[in-house]
Amino acid sequence: MSEQTAVKIKTLLIEDNENDMIIVEDGLSLEGKGEFEVIWANSLSKALNLLKAEEPDVALLDLGLPDSKGLEGLERICKEAPSLPVIVLTGLNDEATGLQAIQSGAQDFLVKGQMAPAVIRRVIHYAIERKRSLLMKDHFMNLVSHELRSPLGILKELLMQLSEGLLGPVTKKQEDCIAMGMETLKRMEDTSSTLLDLAKIESGKVELTSTAFDLIELAKSLASGFRFPIEKKGLILEEDYRADKVMLTADRNKIAQVLTNFLNNAAKFTQKGIIILRVTERPEAIVCEVEDTGVGLAANDLPKVFNKYEQFGRYRDKKAGTGLGLSICKEIIGLHDGQIAVRSELEKGSVFSFSLPRK
Ligand SMILES: Nc1ncnc2c1ncn2[C@@H]1O[C@H](COP(=O)(O)OP(=O)(O)OP(=O)(O)O)[C@@H](O)[C@H]1O
Ligand SMILES: [Mg+2]
Repeated sequence: MSEQTAVKIKTLLIEDNENDMIIVEDGLSLEGKGEFEVIWANSLSKALNLLKAEEPDVALLDLGLPDSKGLEGLERICKEAPSLPVIVLTGLNDEATGLQAIQSGAQDFLVKGQMAPAVIRRVIHYAIERKRSLLMKDHFMNLVSHELRSPLGILKELLMQLSEGLLGPVTKKQEDCIAMGMETLKRMEDTSSTLLDLAKIESGKVELTSTAFDLIELAKSLASGFRFPIEKKGLILEEDYRADKVMLTADRNKIAQVLTNFLNNAAKFTQKGIIILRVTERPEAIVCEVEDTGVGLAANDLPKVFNKYEQFGRYRDKKAGTGLGLSICKEIIGLHDGQIAVRSELEKGSVFSFSLPRK
């Protein structure tokens, strides 16, 4: 058998109770068989110093330290070492705090009194892997946003100059090629901004910029943009507004994004008939619907329609897009404390709607 030469997992244990410290340390030496090196800090300030000096691979953090209480310690650690996986130690019957810690950036939690050696080891390994894949995802999203989006912008600019004849006369054939290139670029831009939207939403970095605006005015302006492609497909676009003006305080761009996806989907998944854009005012809520006479959805697909990457039926092809549109819509409406809903019947059509509370 080969001798074990693997690098040890440097584990920073931030715990003021010596008994709990011993349980973790013994557990790791028993189960880990030399896999772990444990560094102990009995206060947050000592831990913050060790973060720099020792550069640990993982931290186990007690939430009741002499110099920090509750999630405050977690926040400090995450701020000082954003790429460090942190596992929180909670008391018995305190699962709620553990779950709250996960929402605040911890990878996992261990309940004191239930820390079997095998459990501690598994949780540490899982936390390290999970954090690594989150960091890779962040890195990928950065790549999408900077490395891909800027060259796309440059290509678009070059194609514009070509099509406007700024670089010499353009033949009909060349014009067609440029138009195809522009369309492809637009699809790539749409996909990259969808991915970025999702990454922002998932990392909790989305902030709403709420203003007061007229939803009917927004609906009318979006409808006018969609009228041409919808009518070109031989469909009818009807606008049904039950009021002259419906004032709303919300993030106008994000609400426009939701309506745009609803209209886009209706246009994409309807081959004949009519698409209706409707705004209704109710005493407690404002409701906006896009109804179509398209392919519809099967009853067993309906509960999945707002999940990520779900695409249904024969439209599961590249034309359908990324399958992220509706999941982003759901998040946006959720951020506004609203409700998103769908009614649909296969081969008959669908109604996608959102309602926003009157504030
Ligand atoms: N109006 C509709 N009629 C029938 N099926 C629909 C309708 N809207 C959405 N769907 C189904 O739900 C799936 C998910 O829609 P979603 O908007 O999330 O993604 P997408 O349109 O496929 O891609 P993206 O919006 O990311 O470009 C679609 O692929 C389609 O199968
Ligand atoms: Mg869509």
